[in-house]
Amino acid sequence: MRIVLVGASGFLGRYVLNALVADGHHCVVLTRAAARHGDIKLLPGVELVQADVYAVDVLANWFEGADAVVSMAGILNERGRGGQGFHKVHVELVEAIIRASGQAGVTRVLHVSALRAAEGRSHYLKSKSEAEDLLKKANKLNATLFQPSVIFGLGDSFFNRFALLLRLSWIMPLACPRARLQPVYAVDVAAAMVAALDDPLSWGKSYELGGPQSYTLKELVEWTAGEMGLRRWIVGLPGFLSATTAVLMGLLPGKPFSMDNYRSLQTDSTTRQDGFACFGIAPRSIDTVVPDYLTGSVRQRRLQACRRQSRRDE
Ligand SMILES: NC(=O)c1ccc[n+]([C@@H]2O[C@H](COP(=O)([O-])OP(=O)(O)OC[C@H]3O[C@@H](n4cnc5c(N)ncnc54)[C@H](OP(=O)(O)O)[C@@H]3O)[C@@H](O)[C@H]2O)c1
Repeated sequence: MRIVLVGASGFLGRYVLNALVADGHHCVVLTRAAARHGDIKLLPGVELVQADVYAVDVLANWFEGADAVVSMAGILNERGRGGQGFHKVHVELVEAIIRASGQAGVTRVLHVSALRAAEGRSHYLKSKSEAEDLLKKANKLNATLFQPSVIFGLGDSFFNRFALLLRLSWIMPLACPRARLQPVYAVDVAAAMVAALDDPLSWGKSYELGGPQSYTLKELVEWTAGEMGLRRWIVGLPGFLSATTAVLMGLLPGKPFSMDNYRSLQTDSTTRQDGFACFGIAPRSIDTVVPDYLTGSVRQRRLQACRRQSRRDE
């Protein structure tokens, strides 16, 4: 198949591209910044194209002759605070994709949303839910929606970020410690997407995607510390201190944590149906995957420390 992808230059996109390429598909990745993602061109059968992804005519031009479009652009934080940034990426871009698909005669769209977006109170989740509604209502479009919980895998920004923070100090204040998450492996999400591609039973359906187990945020951070061999004191902050932390960190460049993230974490990111079962996929647990990429670097550092010590001893 010829597949055109928007928002596939990021973390999950790499996994999806690898899975599509392994299945023999030809992929065209539209990106706002081709120069930053040159490595994608190294994948066999993948074209990387610099494009104005908000311009319907530009999209329609690339969608011409495509068997399917994959829509997966997303942001976790916006520049301002009023929700316009989320609306632009999550809603306006999807509107453009729907209109361009109509113009180009594409009838098949796979879209990556977020788990329980419809219940969310954050701009992130609300805008994701708005896009879901648009796709469900779109005429002549066979859309399949994927609703993952937090996604893990080499290069993720969840376990890797906590690993970084845990290395910095023996005590770690943690906002929203009781938030519930069901981490799901990027390889499994990509496998479900590829399986749905030519499965008419998935048309018009939404799939909740979560790993085999749900955890509180605190349990996940404690687990991460344990896997890294670090003894850390994780202090769960109560509601008002979590919100205060969000406000303060939201003022820092890059917003490491924001009020919108805080609001997203008030909605459980856990599944009520097993979306993987429909594709015959048994999702993998964090224990079987995460330690490899977390402890690999710890092992390397320990090895380097041993080498330095032996040099000093000599
Ligand atoms: N990672 C998770 O834990 C997780 C969990 C649930 C749902 N999701 C959803 O899964 C999708 C992929 O997530 P990811 O982790 O792979 O994200 P990512 O690594 O941050 O990649 C996001 C993609 O979105 C595009 N993008 C970013 N800002 C944009 C903007 N202002 N306008 C247009 N496009 C923009 C980027 O494309 P270019 O820069 O190439 O144009 C990039 O390829 C997103 O929709 C996300 O909401 C992710």
